[in-house]
Amino acid sequence: MAIRETWATRIGFILAAVGSAVGLGNIWRFPFLTAESGGAAFLVAYLFLVAVIGLPVILVEFVIGRESKQNVVDAFPEIGAPNWQFIGAIGALAGFVILSYYSVVGGWVIQYMVGSLTGGYAGNAEAFFGSAAEGTNAVAYDLLFMAIVAGIVSFGVRDGLERAAKVMIPSVVGLLVLLAAYGATLSGASEGYAYYLSPDMSTIVTDAIGLLPDAAGQAFFTLSLGMGVMITYASYLGEDRNMLRDSLLIVVVDTSIAILAGLAVFPFLFAQGVDPGTGGIGTTFVGLATAFASLPAGQVVGFVFFSMLLLASLTSAFSILEVIVSYAIDTFGVDRKPATLAIAAVIFLVGIPTAMSLDYLTLYDAIANQILLIGGGLLLAIFGGWFYASGASEELQKGMPGGETFTTVWIWVLRVPVVLVLAYVLYNGVLAVAGIVQGM
Ligand code: TRP
Repeated sequence: MAIRETWATRIGFILAAVGSAVGLGNIWRFPFLTAESGGAAFLVAYLFLVAVIGLPVILVEFVIGRESKQNVVDAFPEIGAPNWQFIGAIGALAGFVILSYYSVVGGWVIQYMVGSLTGGYAGNAEAFFGSAAEGTNAVAYDLLFMAIVAGIVSFGVRDGLERAAKVMIPSVVGLLVLLAAYGATLSGASEGYAYYLSPDMSTIVTDAIGLLPDAAGQAFFTLSLGMGVMITYASYLGEDRNMLRDSLLIVVVDTSIAILAGLAVFPFLFAQGVDPGTGGIGTTFVGLATAFASLPAGQVVGFVFFSMLLLASLTSAFSILEVIVSYAIDTFGVDRKPATLAIAAVIFLVGIPTAMSLDYLTLYDAIANQILLIGGGLLLAIFGGWFYASGASEELQKGMPGGETFTTVWIWVLRVPVVLVLAYVLYNGVLAVAGIVQGM
């Protein structure tokens, strides 16, 4: 690659990073995990981890990316740390696993677009989910979703991405606000808010500690952290940019959209009398479908909502495939189009079991979030905090005048709390995955 492209517009980078962060993680995964994990205590653990772990680690990725101007695998040798290159390999592996089932859930979204128009889920939200989520429908729509993502990636960084994010984010926010406002008028709303927003103060600390593993996985997943997406994106970033400001913006927007998704989903669950702990992976889709079925003009609103959700998940899926493809291009000198096609095909094949059975989807999801992303994050924190602290500090301060104090705090947060919490979480993640495998 001769001259590396930089972002076409000043906000192009923000839009792309937000486009990557905002997706099924916010709107599907966050509400169902919160519902499953007891509500408000999970929200507390999640917010804590986003601030104390997510923000510091996102900055490590930004620093590595901007300084090296390389993809996730070549970045480490470029900044004089060739021994750390294997972080990139873990990232690429995480990307393979995540995209293989992310595209399945993306396929569900397309089925819900169709279902909105045909009225397919009206009156039988649970049954609709059952037939959409597993089996041949799921495989077919998984393939469709992957084909769209591969099509977008084939055209390169500037073409698809920046434009899509501009339309998608405001539309998703607008529709979620609408749903949340409508949900507020339902009779179950106050119970829903209580479950979601008011933790039991007497047990909050122990509750939240027990929820740290799931909450950490979610924090990494939703911020697209731990696999080098943000390294790759920041590699196109100019040195005059204040990366703290950029990362805060990304984190705040992403987190707000997740919280909003919860506000949109929980009132409908409670209005339906659904026990939030029992719905599992389908909770969000069942809740939303119930909402649209009862909403005036719900068929249209539902169609628009799922279309926007599809866009949001495409920009996220794009970012995952882009990391892997850009690695293949820079390393093997292959052309973008054939590389994209081949990689997408392999990912689709790897994901077929997750489209056939929710048990596999749960397993892949646990391996990716609880082990690979957390492991990647732990290594990034050790690298940034202990092995590359002075280089990282210097790079962060570019575009951030007077940032010495913040930088020092950042390094120490990485060195101790981030490393300790992630090590604890990783240990639990390995146990959790072993438990899932045994139960299968
Ligand atoms: N953050 C995206 C979402 O919430 C998913 C995603 C995109 C992702 N890129 C990633 C997750 C990289 C982990 C790593 O939908």
